[in-house]
Amino acid sequence: MSMVNQLSEVEEGTRQHPSYREDTRVLSEKEYNKFVTLNTVNDWSQLSWKDVGRPYEVTSFAKEKKEWEQAHSQPLPAHTSWTMFNRSFHSWFVKDVPAEMSASKKALLKSFSSFKLSEVKAAIGEVTRIHLWNYVHRIQDGIWDPRGKRALFEGLNVTKPRILYLGAAEGYEAMQLSAMYPGGEIVHVDYDPFCKETRFAEFPESYPFLGENEQTSGKKIYYKDDFSSEYLVEDIRTLTFGREFDIVISVGMLEHFPDELKPEVVEWHRKFLKPNGYIVMTTPRAQLRSKLYYELMADVMNHTYRELMTVEQMGLYLHENGLDIKRHGYIKVHNGVVAQVR
Ligand SMILES: C[S@@+](CC[C@H](N)C(=O)[O-])C[C@H]1O[C@@H](n2cnc3c(N)ncnc32)[C@H](O)[C@@H]1O
Repeated sequence: MSMVNQLSEVEEGTRQHPSYREDTRVLSEKEYNKFVTLNTVNDWSQLSWKDVGRPYEVTSFAKEKKEWEQAHSQPLPAHTSWTMFNRSFHSWFVKDVPAEMSASKKALLKSFSSFKLSEVKAAIGEVTRIHLWNYVHRIQDGIWDPRGKRALFEGLNVTKPRILYLGAAEGYEAMQLSAMYPGGEIVHVDYDPFCKETRFAEFPESYPFLGENEQTSGKKIYYKDDFSSEYLVEDIRTLTFGREFDIVISVGMLEHFPDELKPEVVEWHRKFLKPNGYIVMTTPRAQLRSKLYYELMADVMNHTYRELMTVEQMGLYLHENGLDIKRHGYIKVHNGVVAQVR
């Protein structure tokens, strides 16, 4: 490593590991939480839809969805749309991003010599998407956003909780919760088998989840294999659990259902919860940069109905469907709510 590289490593306060970069800076509470805004609403009973407006509906869809619908002359069924989404989304997590960034630039230069507008446009799209992904996921860490999620998940009154993750995909957030509230177990549920077999199975074993040491109450790093996890490939609507979970969580679920179905989605969370248990939900934020992201990444992300909402809109859906909101806020790219049954 050159002297210049060594210096920049020290200055930036990071250390490179085989599959991630560690932040070694010592930050004050204020600096640490600067990307987290919590508890903006004092009294949910005072809010109405007139005050908060309606969510923003994303109307650009993936080419794969449009082609399927054209070929079959019917709307893409929800289950198929998720199987497409999960394969597509996962393929971005496993990309060699630096290599693809330089390959996409070379392809763009080459496309200029073709003098074909469609080829140039496609090449610009590739360059834009890979750079956007690099920024959102690798620089900002906006998708996993461990700091934001830890801030949101703080302060739950649970010991060795049983956690039910609805629409678990790779299971990230339940693992983060289980690190913060250790010694319990996770039941992941997703009806797309690819999620269990690939997204969860291939989630990096070396990814560190910062949590609590059960013995000392100090900090402890947990890894995927430290958690007691079960993964069910089932439809949430046919689960037969009783009221047996301390925490029921979903991430990116509510916004995929139009208003007439939102009460049912809230009920999915409520019905397996122990008395005094917690519902934790997050949805993507309705901020300009997210609107742009879902526009530019439509082919990667938009296989299903999707809304972007503010935390006030999200909270109002939950409040009007019988939940008592304990903690709410927005982190880098998602809103989050921690609630109990009223
Ligand atoms: C938008 S994804 C969740 C976001 C996730 N955190 C990610 O990174 O992709 C929603 C997940 O819920 C699953 N899902 C949707 N409806 C479901 C249902 N009725 N039963 C089980 N899983 C479902 C989908 O297969 C998908 O993996």
